[in-house]
Amino acid sequence: RSSNGRLQVRLEASPGEVQLGGRPASALGYNGGVPGPTLRVRAGDVLDVELVNSMDVPTNLHVHGLHVSPQGNGDNVFVVIQPGQSFSYEYRLPADHPPGTYWYHPHHHGTVADQIFAGLYGAIIVEDAEPPVIDRERILVISDITLDGSGNVAAASPMDRMLGREGQLVLLNGQSNPKLSARPGERERWRIVNACVSRYLPLRLDGQQMQLLGMDSGSLLTPANVDELLLAPGNRADVLITALAGDAILRASTYNRGGMAGMMGPAAPGPSGGQFQGDVVLATLSVSGAPSTSAQPVPSRQQTLPDLRTAVVAAHRQLTLGAGGLGMGMGMMSFTINGREFNGNRTDTTVAAGTVEEWTLINPSLMDHPFHLHVWPMQVIEQSGDAPDTPVWRDVVNVPANGRAKVRISFQDFAGRSVYHCHILDHEDQGMMGVIDVR
Ligand code: C2O
Ligand code: CU
Ligand code: CU
Repeated sequence: RSSNGRLQVRLEASPGEVQLGGRPASALGYNGGVPGPTLRVRAGDVLDVELVNSMDVPTNLHVHGLHVSPQGNGDNVFVVIQPGQSFSYEYRLPADHPPGTYWYHPHHHGTVADQIFAGLYGAIIVEDAEPPVIDRERILVISDITLDGSGNVAAASPMDRMLGREGQLVLLNGQSNPKLSARPGERERWRIVNACVSRYLPLRLDGQQMQLLGMDSGSLLTPANVDELLLAPGNRADVLITALAGDAILRASTYNRGGMAGMMGPAAPGPSGGQFQGDVVLATLSVSGAPSTSAQPVPSRQQTLPDLRTAVVAAHRQLTLGAGGLGMGMGMMSFTINGREFNGNRTDTTVAAGTVEEWTLINPSLMDHPFHLHVWPMQVIEQSGDAPDTPVWRDVVNVPANGRAKVRISFQDFAGRSVYHCHILDHEDQGMMGVIDVR
């Protein structure tokens, strides 16, 4: 990052040999790594990314969660970068861009799940104007992958595509159960990204004090104590850990997101052994040694996003995700929004720039669908009948099986065409995505 607020990066997407979970693997990576390099910027910066496609399939780049223009060489998901070609993206962050943890990944329709599953993802940090004083910051990118006996990435079966694939190996920064260490009393800030294609992560760190600083682009004014933190695919959490002596396991506990279980009862076998797994160990934190006394109280933070609960709503919309209702077989599950499959040449939703809208997301199907909107953050107004009593912002909102969620969105700062979709990326690739045009 140069002093004039410009960060220039070259990202090369290529196949390569990497160590994943301690095993040699033939995967995909950005600049040869899984995950790719962490990009650090500040509000008001310009992020220049030259994306070089050294794979034999088309790709492109999406900066998930960033509030930047979707047009031209901004966060334009309609760009296609052919094998051997490159493209120069320029992301201009507004001066009031919310700080937080974001990420980047490919978005070429039809291949998004395959490319992310094989290793293409990395973290983006938008720094706080006044960061809390801590002893250590860690970036924890969680992903999953299935490798065959020769270390190649396993292809998804038709059932995996239907339910959303879950990998047999769950990795933290490309490693299986890495050992982290700290001294008692130390304060750590963990920025966690759920980069899994379909896996939900109910995270626990029993025996340690975990406080939530924020999720996605929303910050909490005062950190809240949490025992368990649910990250749907695509969500991020910003967590403060105060280390207590002893060993603690960062684990993902079981989450039932429906699917076969909804139709065949909870004893139904899962595809790839993934769907109904028990706890998954992600990392081990060992806290020992002389106590640290450096920890300072965390100052209360500034919320940069306006509370939309009292805003004037210009339009109400309903979006129905999938149509596989009660009594329908899996074969009849449809990967649609409002009954239509994705078509990049069609506009599904036209919004007046500068207005606030309320969207009711309806899920009549038997599995959860995590709903994601690009560019503009969503404020959760209601989720399964509960209204949050403090403002909550997400760019991925889980819409539970047979449930609904209500969000408000302020379509400010940018115009242009972008997309919303299910962040179970196998569903998105099969058509559960729509085009929005803000003008
Ligand atoms: Cu993280 Cu449209 O994606
Ligand atoms: Cu996104
Ligand atoms: Cu879905």
